[in-house]
Amino acid sequence: MIIAGTLLLPDTDGESPGVRLAQGWLRTEVGRIAEVHEGGLPASFDFGGDGHLISPGFIDTHMHLPQFDLIGAHGMQLLDWLDRVTFPNEARWADPDYALAMTERVIDQLLSVGTTSFAAYATVHHESARRALDCCARRGLRAVVGQVLIDQQAPDSMLRDAGVCIAETESLLNDWPSLPEQRAAGNRVSTAVTPRFAITCSEGLLKAAGDLACKHDAFIQTHLAEMQPELGAVAKLHGGPDYTSVYQRAGLLSARTLLGHCVYLSDDERRLLAETGSVAAHCPTANSFLRSGTMDRQKLIDAGVTVSLGSDIGGGYERSMIRVARSMIETTMHAGSGGVPAPSASESWWQATAGNADAMGWPDTGRIQENAEADLVVIQPDIPWQTAHHPLGMVMFAWDDRWVTQTIVNGEVAYSR
Ligand code: GUN
Ligand code: ZN
Repeated sequence: MIIAGTLLLPDTDGESPGVRLAQGWLRTEVGRIAEVHEGGLPASFDFGGDGHLISPGFIDTHMHLPQFDLIGAHGMQLLDWLDRVTFPNEARWADPDYALAMTERVIDQLLSVGTTSFAAYATVHHESARRALDCCARRGLRAVVGQVLIDQQAPDSMLRDAGVCIAETESLLNDWPSLPEQRAAGNRVSTAVTPRFAITCSEGLLKAAGDLACKHDAFIQTHLAEMQPELGAVAKLHGGPDYTSVYQRAGLLSARTLLGHCVYLSDDERRLLAETGSVAAHCPTANSFLRSGTMDRQKLIDAGVTVSLGSDIGGGYERSMIRVARSMIETTMHAGSGGVPAPSASESWWQATAGNADAMGWPDTGRIQENAEADLVVIQPDIPWQTAHHPLGMVMFAWDDRWVTQTIVNGEVAYSR
């Protein structure tokens, strides 16, 4: 397949990583990008054309599959919102058929906004997590999906026996391992050890989760320091000296650990994240929707922490990673961030693509280069972006999901407008 237009290519020359615009074309072959050429458009091609942008597929590093139907439950803060809206909704995933049908619908929505890869939470229900993993694999996406672990401080419908849910997660790890060399060729789906957060997990469950992840070199997903009342509850349940240490004691901090939010951290905690290579998944739309506070992305980066970007649907309300990236820019502008400039459109686009791929440990995804996985978005803006003062800034700030004409997953057209 040949795709032509303005390519969004990796740009590592600047102070911050980014993307650069260059006219050209690429050819895909069995799921990979076989060639990339800068220059004039070829005489014939399959997709794109003059005025089209060709981007790597967008990657969402933190979201909840069962929460797409509760987006917009406005007016509550995290702990209330979990009790009143989230847990009752997630209880519907007790029915695996419902979970599968919902995952299909969610993937349709994601593809229509250009998302080709994600790391997601399922629910506490084992068979439903399994169906969601199967569905992602069948649809060809690159995905991480974890069965959520909860054994305290939640409604009865969410509580599970720690030993049973650890054994269930281990059976998922055997079928959906994290490392590509452990998976069958072409399988791009893994599970993750997914303790929901420290409030809803006993110390024993957290420790068993850490041990299991270590045994399998597995991805780990959890939430860290999202809002202030959460910190007090965690200190009461698990002791000090701080929230991050609770996860460290349990062996849950590693280079494959994705920690949603990381809004309220001390210097010591940032150091711990940097030392362990853990990833802070910034979720700006959720932080504003649930009025949790403002994550200081630059402070984490300066401390040496890897930062990724996530929609955190349904605490977050935006499915489009371009809008989430825009919210990341706006968050920095509002916060003032002690004179630190807001990330540029180029850096923000990089974050939603190659930056998120790097954070996931996926060097061959999220970028247009030879031999990378052919996950791509063809974009046809209906505004004169090519002659704008700041072409990429215009595309990002005027973004319209209807501009996505094709989403290509693993070299196949998975969505067409
Ligand atoms: N902390 C624990 N669970 C959740 C969740 O589902 N969403 C958010 N935003 N934070 C959480
Ligand atoms: Zn979350």
